[in-house]
Amino acid sequence: MSDSPAPFQAPVGTHDVLAPDSAGWEGLVATFATLAYQYGFGLVITPMFEDVGVFNRGIGETSEVASKEMYVFTDRGQRTWALRPEGTASVVRAFVQHQPPTPWKAWYVTPAFRYERPQAGRYRQHHQLGVEVLGSDDPAIDVEVISLAWRFFEAVGLRRIRLLLNSMGHEECRGRYVELLATHLDANVSRLCDEHRRSWATNPLRVLDCKRPECVAVTERGPMLPDHLCDDCRDHFAHVVEGLTSIGIESTLAPRLVRGFDYYTRTTFEFVADALDSAQNAVGGGGRYDRLAEQLGGPPTSGIGFGSGIERLLMVRVAEGVTETLLERNPDVFVVDTTGAGVATVLADRLRRSAIAVQRAYDGRSMKAQMKAADRAGARLALLVGPAEHAAGQVTIRDLRSGDFDQTQRTIDQSDVVAIVRELLTKKR
Ligand code: HAM
Repeated sequence: MSDSPAPFQAPVGTHDVLAPDSAGWEGLVATFATLAYQYGFGLVITPMFEDVGVFNRGIGETSEVASKEMYVFTDRGQRTWALRPEGTASVVRAFVQHQPPTPWKAWYVTPAFRYERPQAGRYRQHHQLGVEVLGSDDPAIDVEVISLAWRFFEAVGLRRIRLLLNSMGHEECRGRYVELLATHLDANVSRLCDEHRRSWATNPLRVLDCKRPECVAVTERGPMLPDHLCDDCRDHFAHVVEGLTSIGIESTLAPRLVRGFDYYTRTTFEFVADALDSAQNAVGGGGRYDRLAEQLGGPPTSGIGFGSGIERLLMVRVAEGVTETLLERNPDVFVVDTTGAGVATVLADRLRRSAIAVQRAYDGRSMKAQMKAADRAGARLALLVGPAEHAAGQVTIRDLRSGDFDQTQRTIDQSDVVAIVRELLTKKR
């Protein structure tokens, strides 16, 4: 028996992402970054861990995520931190700390950590693309944030996404509504699921979020948020719906959509993918949080944003049968060098400095092995240099995609390589 220890594995509920699969990730991130730029957002980067209070106060101690799923740890200095379970609270903490000019429009790509029961589409470390806007409660911002998400889904090829929309009202409407809901739940307590029969009073809104059929049956017959909004909140919501309609984005009213965090006020929304199983079909969600900055010690500042899970987006692309790649990551050129004289190093450098993607072989491998590697890499062109070409200052260029070597192979001067490779690549694209 060997003495070497058993190899380590990635933690349960997490995944390594290797090339070529990681090109799908790069494609999503690059598409999102471009759109975010077009919509006037700047990238924000915050630490992966924060004082646990940022999340307890921000997303609410009674929320499922804060109470059951957070990765909390004490460091050597006896301070208690939490790994970020979502992006919003950290970004708002950063806003409060730095007080940038408003409206402040920030986008991010971040891992998020939740101690969940791992299953398809639900992980202990997932990754979100998201935006947050602080400093305005103009419904035009709600429309802009929702439309950015919508255009993003379109840009990555998704066609069967539905937008669910609700308004939770501002604090007073919400407070009044919670009282009505509590009365309804109290009268039906014996019909609730086991968990909520015990815990509904701690935060009645959480029962609306419960997917168990017992709770759904009770809340379906209960009071609905949109029926209890004040005039201002009703107006705000009407403007959001109107704005979305004006740019061709249809929404479905989802009167029980309150989402899992306590910070939401007014507009809340979720994007669901019809191609996925309903248990894990949310590809994005978000809403307003007009009191969050204050709850984190800042001045009263309205805010709104959304987050979308990268893993789920990739799952929906597969489920919808989207085959178009978002980002071509195959090399343009593979240099096959059998001279043993380091020609590949020089050629690769010249090409790469002209923004051409180059791969090559190492370890003095045979011509056959290098050609195989070029094929495996999916290169468009091979540059072949053997001792004869090297002596003549030449290189043979071969189109690996045409399948007709005689027509597409020719020998050229090394000094013309960049120009000719460029010309061939443009022709092929
Ligand atoms: P969330 O709905 O908890 O919202 O997460 C956003 C998205 O992240 C979900 O729609 C889903 O696609 C993905 N996601 C969440 N949990 C998991 C998981 N365990 N495994 C895989 N994917 C997951 C938020 O986090 C809010 N911060 C969104 C927001 C931004 N609200 C306002 N601004």
